[in-house]
Amino acid sequence: MHVISFEGFEYSGKSTQIALLKKYFLKKKIVSTFTREPGGKKDLEKIRKIILQSNFNNLSLILFFFASRFSLLSDLKSKGILVFDRFFDSTFAYQNYTSRDKDLILRLIKKIHKKYIPRVTFYFKMNKRVLLERRKQRGALNNFDKRYLGEFSRIQKNYNDLSKIKIGKRIFITIDASQSKEAIHNEVIENLKKWKLIK
Ligand code: TYD
Repeated sequence: MHVISFEGFEYSGKSTQIALLKKYFLKKKIVSTFTREPGGKKDLEKIRKIILQSNFNNLSLILFFFASRFSLLSDLKSKGILVFDRFFDSTFAYQNYTSRDKDLILRLIKKIHKKYIPRVTFYFKMNKRVLLERRKQRGALNNFDKRYLGEFSRIQKNYNDLSKIKIGKRIFITIDASQSKEAIHNEVIENLKKWKLIK
């Protein structure tokens, strides 16, 4: 099993890229499983709704996200390539406000079995101008997304810090999200080949 994760702020094109990758794997008959966080299985999708509509405080959110994560991992059956639409990096990026939060999140990341640590993480990096343009075009976000909209710079910085933190053998790849979706898709595929996750 190989593990990949996708990360990025709202409007970074993450969902589009995941859909393109799914299509590519189907076409090439590459066995894969796609999952998303929060959620990923029936009960957790119910919890996803609650979390994303909640006003929980930050410590509660950290623990909710990790509780949901460990539950998902505990009975995840997957073959081939396992693809996460958001994973622990999202908690580090979004819920990391203080050095205590950071320590707690890093400790919880260490609790994840090493077989689930992604070999490759794709992070779609976007500047504020592109974010604002896309937001104008696409309109409304859910409550949770709105809550973090004004925190773009903080979250971006946290993702940037993650790119320098070694977690297992994972390779953190930052992709310029302002490129065309085709160019980004090619970059994803090239990297999967380069790191020998696909041929
Ligand atoms: P996402 O799955 O990207 O939903 P959508 O496709 O509707 O944008 O993310 C949902 C929200 O959850 C997003 O604002 C990021 C947030 N989130 C965290 O704050 N921490 C986490 O650990 C995870 C997994 C998500």
